[in-house]
Amino acid sequence: MDYFHYKEGKLFCEEVPVEAIVKAAGSPCYIYSANTLREHYRKFYKAFSALDPLICFSIKTCNNLHIIQELVAEGSGIDTVSGGEIFLARKAGADARNIVFAGIGKTDEEILFALDQEIGIFNIESAEEFENLARLAKMRNKKVDAALRVTPDVVDEKTHAKTKTGYKGSKFGVDIDKAIQFFNTYGKDTHVSLCGIHIHIGSPIYSPAPYEIAIKKILSLIEELKQQGHAVRIFDIGGGYSADYEKGKSASYEDFAAVIVPLLKPYVEKGMKIILEPGRTISGNSGILVSKVLYRKEGGHKKFIIIDTGMHHLIRPALYDANHFMWPVVSDGISNEGRVVDEKGEGLQAYDVVGPICESSDYLAKDRYLPEMKKDDLLAIFTAGAYGMVMSSNYNATCKPAEIMVDKQQVFVIRERETYEDLIRSDKKSTLTV
Ligand code: LLP
Repeated sequence: MDYFHYKEGKLFCEEVPVEAIVKAAGSPCYIYSANTLREHYRKFYKAFSALDPLICFSIKTCNNLHIIQELVAEGSGIDTVSGGEIFLARKAGADARNIVFAGIGKTDEEILFALDQEIGIFNIESAEEFENLARLAKMRNKKVDAALRVTPDVVDEKTHAKTKTGYKGSKFGVDIDKAIQFFNTYGKDTHVSLCGIHIHIGSPIYSPAPYEIAIKKILSLIEELKQQGHAVRIFDIGGGYSADYEKGKSASYEDFAAVIVPLLKPYVEKGMKIILEPGRTISGNSGILVSKVLYRKEGGHKKFIIIDTGMHHLIRPALYDANHFMWPVVSDGISNEGRVVDEKGEGLQAYDVVGPICESSDYLAKDRYLPEMKKDDLLAIFTAGAYGMVMSSNYNATCKPAEIMVDKQQVFVIRERETYEDLIRSDKKSTLTV
């Protein structure tokens, strides 16, 4: 699962005590395990290796340059959704041909940047976007590959309403029943070769079943397209593969592959290229957010633990009611190695774990059973490597935390903690000539 584990009541990241890291780096901080990242990538690739896929790590989950570099070194391609992400992927050394560019609102500047970088494939989400890409590719005299993002009308009921994407009426992609018409209209463009299909059915997806339904729907679409003279040679099945927010919560890579590989293998044997865009399943369990207890208090029937991090550093509980397992970094006597969120063991009490931000939605857990904690104790919030730091903000003029990476016994600062000066760095007044 990952290399965060307790030894004699103390949390370690790989071979280093987390307490020692925080003593040196300060609190709060994100701590990543390099070997968890690498191992997740390798295991994911291995599970799907029969498809010889292009794995494009979704850097919207975690875009620290040094993390991207680790995955690029493993051979990963990159799933991007903005010019900025393409820039980061290239800075991290990703081969442009292994970059996919999705997103419903690509600007002309972003498209031109992607064309100039000669990225591998554009995932197209509307007719107007296709026409715009064709116009810009012609202007730059480039030939590019594109995949049509199709909405297969499949959802996983367990996925939060705010992160479901595969349903009809979602803002993403083109309805599956409009796909043939799309290929008939745009399939012969001279600058944009419409040669692929892309899906992303939502995140997280906890079991293989929704993939099975969606892929079967797309394979019959591909057969119909073939009959109409359109050869689909790339099938990008997107991301969504869950992470273990609690131990064993998500299906394993082998479980996903056992369903997906047999469906796609016959097509791969006939020359189809498969792309997968895993995000959180690679990075989620690779990172924790560590925070310090500031105060305790009681209000009404509630007990509160007030910590020095919150929605400004990890917004998932506030935005999606997400459950992140958390436990004291030094936990004498009481262990919860199973990472079970609602464990009500002896010595545990229910607390609301809240941050310093002036919002009632600034909490990281509600009614969470935890051992007693006191001022300056450290609390680790697990599975924070995906959609953690990337969604952080400076709300309430707070500084973003440091990011630390551990590789066995070595510890690196990979992003410095922000300072007050960083808060005003871009606040420059100048005359705008209009
Ligand atoms: N590919 C596409 C086209 C996507 O839109 C996404 C995520 C991924 C891949 C990666 O999905 P993953 O494997 O990480 O589940 N902020 C939300 C999740 C938003 C997902 C956006 N798209 C959260 O914290 O749960």
